[in-house]
Amino acid sequence: MSVQTSDARLLALAAEHGTPLYVYNVDVISAQYKALTQAFQAAPAKFFYACKALTNLSILQHIAALGCNIDCSSINEAHLALRAGFSPQRILYTSNGIGFAEIQTAVALGLTVNIDSLSNLDKFGAAYGGTYPVGLRLRPNIMAGGNLKISTGHANSKFGIPIEQMDQVQALRQAHGLRIAGLHVHTGSEVKDLAVFMQVAEIFAALLPQFPDLVYLDMGGGFKVPYKDEEVGTDMAALGKAVADFFAHLEKTQGRKLEAWFEPGKYLVSACGHFVTSVNVIKENPTATVVGINTGFNNLIRPMFYDAYHRIRNISHPQGPLQSYTVVGHICETDTFATDRPLAQVREGDVLVFDNAGAYGFEMGSHYNSRFLPAQVMVRGEENFLIRKRDQLDDLLHNQILIAPKIS
Ligand SMILES: Cc1ncc(COP(=O)(O)O)c(C=O)c1O
Repeated sequence: MSVQTSDARLLALAAEHGTPLYVYNVDVISAQYKALTQAFQAAPAKFFYACKALTNLSILQHIAALGCNIDCSSINEAHLALRAGFSPQRILYTSNGIGFAEIQTAVALGLTVNIDSLSNLDKFGAAYGGTYPVGLRLRPNIMAGGNLKISTGHANSKFGIPIEQMDQVQALRQAHGLRIAGLHVHTGSEVKDLAVFMQVAEIFAALLPQFPDLVYLDMGGGFKVPYKDEEVGTDMAALGKAVADFFAHLEKTQGRKLEAWFEPGKYLVSACGHFVTSVNVIKENPTATVVGINTGFNNLIRPMFYDAYHRIRNISHPQGPLQSYTVVGHICETDTFATDRPLAQVREGDVLVFDNAGAYGFEMGSHYNSRFLPAQVMVRGEENFLIRKRDQLDDLLHNQILIAPKIS
C-alpha cells in the first residue's frame, strides 16, 4: 500500500493552513529508511541522516525514533539534533571550512568529528593529541553528482583534504599522536552510478595501511532519487551488496573489520515532501503562458540555483486539458520554476503542487523581499500536525535594533 500523501489531503491542508505550505509525510521517511536498511543488511552499515536537507525538530524526532543516526554540517544543526533526542554518540559532525571554535564545541559535546582541512587537523592535534578520535574528510578528485554545483569531490572542489596531501596528514598524525578513526568522502549529490561509490572504496582500501586506528569508512550521502518520471535512482540493492562484498574482502585480505557509514539526505526525506502553492496571476507573453504563483526562490530555490527539476501538478483542476506553461515566482528576480511545462489547464486560484520537495526546500529558504517562510505540516497515518507556523510580521522585525534617524 502506498503511503504517499493524497492530493485530496494536500488540498484540504492548503484550505486549512493556506499556501505556500510544505507538507511532509513521515510514513514515507519510515519506508525509505526500511528500504535502506534492507538493501544494506549484509553490510556492516551505519546510517547518519544528513539533516541539512530538512531540520524541522518533529521530523528529526521521527528519524531519531527510527533508529537512524544523524550527520550535521554546522554546530547549530548539532544543537538541533541534541534537542530532537539524538545522543552525542549518534551525532556525526562533517564540516567544511569552519572555524576551529566550532570543532572545539563539537568535541565538548562528545560528537564524532570529520575534519576537512590540514589547518584544522593541526589545531585539533595541538589541542587534543590522541585523546579524542577524529575522522578525515578527503577530496578524492572524482567528478560525480547531478551537476557541478552539487559535485563536491572533484579536483577543484573546496571540500576535503586532497588525497595527494597524505604525506602532510601523516606528518600531523605522527607529530600529534592523532587517532584517526575514520576516513570520509562525499563525492556529491544525485550520484546514480555505483562505480563512483566503489571507486571511493578503492581509494579507502589503498589508504588503510597508513591508518592503523580506523573504525569507519564513511562514503557520504548522495544517493540519486528520481525527480522526473523517467528517471531511475541509485540501485540500492546492488550498492548494498557491493558494499557488503567490499567490506568482507577488506576483512579477509587486510584483516581490517570496519564499519561502512553513509550520510543520506535526499534519499530519506525528498519524496516525503510536497510544496503546495496557489496561482496568483496568469499572463500571456508572446511565446508562453506565464503562471505566477504565490511563492518564489525565497521558499524553493533548487530550480533557480541548480536548474533542478521538480514535478509540478495542478491538483485543483487535474482533469483540465494539458497545456504548456512557464511557472514563475513572485520575487523581484527572475525566479522561474519551470519552462514549457505541460500542466492540466491552469486558472487563477488553482493549487499547484511540487513533488519531491522534502529535501533542500524549506531549508534553503530566506526572507528575501520580506516574504515569510511558509508553514510546515507533518502527516502521519491519518493525522496531520502543524509543525511550524507560517512567519508573521514580528518574525521579520525580530532581532532588528531600531535607531532613530538623525539628519544633520
Ligand atoms: C558531507 C555531506 N554528506 C551528505 C550529504 C547529503 O547528500 P544527499 O542529500 O544528496 O544525500 C551532503 C549534501 O550536501 C554532504 O555535503
